[in-house]
Amino acid sequence: MSSEPCQPAEVPTVQDQVAQVRPTTLSIGPPAGRPLLQVIGVQHYFGRGETRTQVLFDNHLEVMPGELVILSGPSGSGKTTLLTLIGGLRTLQEGDIRLWDSVRGETISLRGLSEQALINVRRRLGFIFQRHNLLESLTAWQNVQMAVALRPRPEAAAQTRDLLQYLLLGDRDVYGRPQPPRFHYTPARLSGGQRQRVAIARALINRPHLILADEPTAALDAHSGLAVITLLRFLARPRPEAELLQLLRPGEEGGEQGRLAEWQVPLLQRLAGQGGATSLIVTHDPRIMHQADRIVHMERGRIVANVVVAERLFVRNGLRQSPPFAVILPEEQAKLADELLVGVHPDIPLRPDQLAMVSDRLAAFPAGSTIIREGEPVDDQSKFYLIRRGTVEVFRRRADGSEEKVAELGPGQSFGEVALLLNQPRNATVRAKDDVETYLVRREVFRRYHNVSRPFIERILASFRPSAG
Ligand SMILES: Nc1ncnc2c1ncn2[C@@H]1O[C@H](COP(=O)(O)OP(=O)(O)OP(=O)(O)O)[C@@H](O)[C@H]1O
Ligand SMILES: [Mg+2]
Repeated sequence: MSSEPCQPAEVPTVQDQVAQVRPTTLSIGPPAGRPLLQVIGVQHYFGRGETRTQVLFDNHLEVMPGELVILSGPSGSGKTTLLTLIGGLRTLQEGDIRLWDSVRGETISLRGLSEQALINVRRRLGFIFQRHNLLESLTAWQNVQMAVALRPRPEAAAQTRDLLQYLLLGDRDVYGRPQPPRFHYTPARLSGGQRQRVAIARALINRPHLILADEPTAALDAHSGLAVITLLRFLARPRPEAELLQLLRPGEEGGEQGRLAEWQVPLLQRLAGQGGATSLIVTHDPRIMHQADRIVHMERGRIVANVVVAERLFVRNGLRQSPPFAVILPEEQAKLADELLVGVHPDIPLRPDQLAMVSDRLAAFPAGSTIIREGEPVDDQSKFYLIRRGTVEVFRRRADGSEEKVAELGPGQSFGEVALLLNQPRNATVRAKDDVETYLVRREVFRRYHNVSRPFIERILASFRPSAG
């Protein structure tokens, strides 16, 4: 018989205690459809008096939980300034920044927070900044443990080992060859890229719900750069295994892209868990650009573009499948698609406040409502519709006046173009079967293309399938 006392079921085991620690490590996200981060009308100035210069102008941004967001833009455009404001490292002067606080389970505003409250906010974020501020007197391991001290837990040592090993600072390189581990090196004995990875490990060890990174891969070679990007991606949300396999066996150009070692995979999966971490990353690195869910571009202190990659793809594909757009040049399709974007993933319905802001290019129709009516004349207010969410039913009148359902259309499909092109009354009635959202293309856009190309209409009509208009 074992010498251990027999424990009644209610006494928590070590595993139970670990499980109790977990909920604070997994971030509890905001309610469905609510952003994790909101930047509202943020402006910022440096200097005072005569030399006071404005560097940020009326910036608005929303980031959803689990998004990987890239902030790009030329040098001096204000990226770092915006990032430091979001992280509470600078005092907010004008506008507001709201963050979802996963510990308190509520949204907090950084505006007018006390220094102590700001410190608490900062502690829950993961910062990866250009000047990584490692403590020179401490080893790599101890630098990471400094962060753990903010949230001690039994599994931290194992996580630190996993993380440093995964970031190629342990005893194996990406080809599995032995190398001296760097755990106990002080920063002075580390290369720039190694220091950067220690700083990344320190930023990520507590599983922050929001990671703010300024050029995180600038100093990294292909393999360690890929390791970092992949970790950020998997921290955001689980990904299909096929993606991992691709990284293990890069193609001919694998040298430049870097590769992941098979031995890194279990570490990655342990470190990433179920995901839930949102990242806002300043970068020019094309390797990261391709991984982004949202690309925000700044110029001269302003956000000039904010593109949800999945939405852009959705709208482009939708337009491409619609005869009037299929015939225009791909660059024009792309330009037009970008005019319609609302900056929200097509899987997520828009909130009323968002709808109000984009009413020129998006409309919501409650179930049962009529979107267009057969026989209605078209005018300059008439539109062409690309379905974003929901299903519509298309009806035509029979000779006896009764209605016949002729089609049902869903997301990515479009209707309403025929009448606009031919300048004829609507040839069908379209009703929302459930709650529907559609992108709207104004007639003016059609006119623009008519003017560009005379045989435009002929080409379209030649390619017409029977459709509702
Ligand atoms: N502490 C400061 N005092 C005065 N001006 C500043 C200060 N920090 C930044 N600026 C100015 O604010 C503007 C935006 O700087 P910021 O560092 O945010 O740019 P950035 O987009 O991060 O550029 P980079 O890509 O070169 O890092 C620049 O014109 C810069 O000169
Ligand atoms: Mg910068």
